[in-house]
Amino acid sequence: MKIVITGGAGFIGSHLCDNLIKKKHEVICVDNFLTGRQLNIQHLLDNPRFRLIKHDVIYPLTLSSKIDAIYHLASPASPNHHSRLSYHAHPMETMLANTQGTLLLLKFAKKHRAKFLFASSSEVYGNPYEHPQKEKYNGNVSTTGPRSVYDESKRFGETITSYFVRNESIDSRIARIFNTYGPRMQKEDMRMIVRFITQALNGDPMTIYGDGKQTRSLCNVDDMVEGLARLMFYPKTKGEVVNLGATEEHTVLDYAHLIKKLTNSQSQIIFSEPLPQDDPKKRKPDINKAKKLLNWEPKISLEDGLKKTIDYINSNI
Ligand SMILES: NC(=O)c1ccc[n+]([C@@H]2O[C@H](COP(=O)([O-])OP(=O)(O)OC[C@H]3O[C@@H](n4cnc5c(N)ncnc54)[C@H](O)[C@@H]3O)[C@@H](O)[C@H]2O)c1
Repeated sequence: MKIVITGGAGFIGSHLCDNLIKKKHEVICVDNFLTGRQLNIQHLLDNPRFRLIKHDVIYPLTLSSKIDAIYHLASPASPNHHSRLSYHAHPMETMLANTQGTLLLLKFAKKHRAKFLFASSSEVYGNPYEHPQKEKYNGNVSTTGPRSVYDESKRFGETITSYFVRNESIDSRIARIFNTYGPRMQKEDMRMIVRFITQALNGDPMTIYGDGKQTRSLCNVDDMVEGLARLMFYPKTKGEVVNLGATEEHTVLDYAHLIKKLTNSQSQIIFSEPLPQDDPKKRKPDINKAKKLLNWEPKISLEDGLKKTIDYINSNI
């Protein structure tokens, strides 16, 4: 099949390119390099089944050949307000990629009679009152706070995707992606895992926001892209909203201690600043739907996944 991946030069998108190329598909990576980088897809550039198009998804995409499926992953994703790659640094680009970009790509999917997948986020649940979060939970999200440029644009992306399923009969689905980690995360991205690893490897203080008791469950990127691959192509996925993520839950402080141990670091763990506004206190998906529909659950152990990520960041420091 011929598959478009927007955001294909990013962290998750580049691993999805690898996964689908390995399955003998043709992949067209569409990216404007706002937060991604060519390094992530460099190894694919000579592959005859891979093509790179530099393009901003907030403008219409035209391709002469017939496309069979479209993954829409293009959007800044880091919530760290210190990061130049975060959605705080690119608020307008984030809102437009998930709203106007989604609309244009759904129209493109209609024209090509292609399948469509919108990469949504666990952030649509906001700071949740339900734990773990099931797909039916409507969330607790601020419409006006600093994170709303991301959270609310993902929610609207879901709304417009659902509209196209209901009213235009598009064969579309929504993946609610929970925290994902692995090689190709950039240190400038400063999401928790990459920040802790970089700080630990450099011997710098490992910075905890808040008291560190907030929880996260982390999914390895190889597991995540296999979930995304199945969600597009498995039967009975049209119109479905599916959580993809890991269910092993730890506090942020636990992750800092584990990374300190795995890197043999002498770094101090410090409580550097208060929790950012609207930061979720708990985060853990209910993945029963993904298990049933996709026969999918994460397989890679946290320790193995972290060791591989540490090796990657170590060789890129
Ligand atoms: N990584 C996670 O833990 C996580 C969690 C939930 C949801 N997601 C979602 O998964 C997707 C990928 O996230 P990621 O972690 O790989 O982020 P990333 O920043 O590494 O990748 C995003 C890619 O999209 C590209 N992009 C951004 N705006 C664009 C535009 N207007 N036109 C074309 N390309 C554009 C960037 O250059 C980058 O290559 C995002 O939609 C994100 O919201 C990620």
